[in-house]
Amino acid sequence: MENTIKVTIIDREGALHDLEGPTDMNLNIMEICKMHELPVEGICGGMALCASCQVYLESETPLPEQSDAEQGMLDEAFHVKDNSRLGCQIRLTQEIDGIILRLAP
Ligand code: FES
Repeated sequence: MENTIKVTIIDREGALHDLEGPTDMNLNIMEICKMHELPVEGICGGMALCASCQVYLESETPLPEQSDAEQGMLDEAFHVKDNSRLGCQIRLTQEIDGIILRLAP
């Protein structure tokens, strides 16, 4: 579908979840995970204030640069790797179709 993209989430047990997400509802990765009942907390509601939505980017998908808020949050979070991102700061857009993300512990 035109306004739908594919997002693959690898959960903490290593299982793959192929999700479809709409690009016209201003949703982010944290929200789409929650909609599919994947174990993402998103405690701060997507404000880049809690890092409970941390994911690792496992595909070559080009993402927008991290904002200062995202960078600052990841500086203080646990289990951070070079490919860490905050799920709530990744918007569902056509550009990230096919993205693969792994949930951080
Ligand atoms: Fe809190 Fe993403 S939901 S930083």
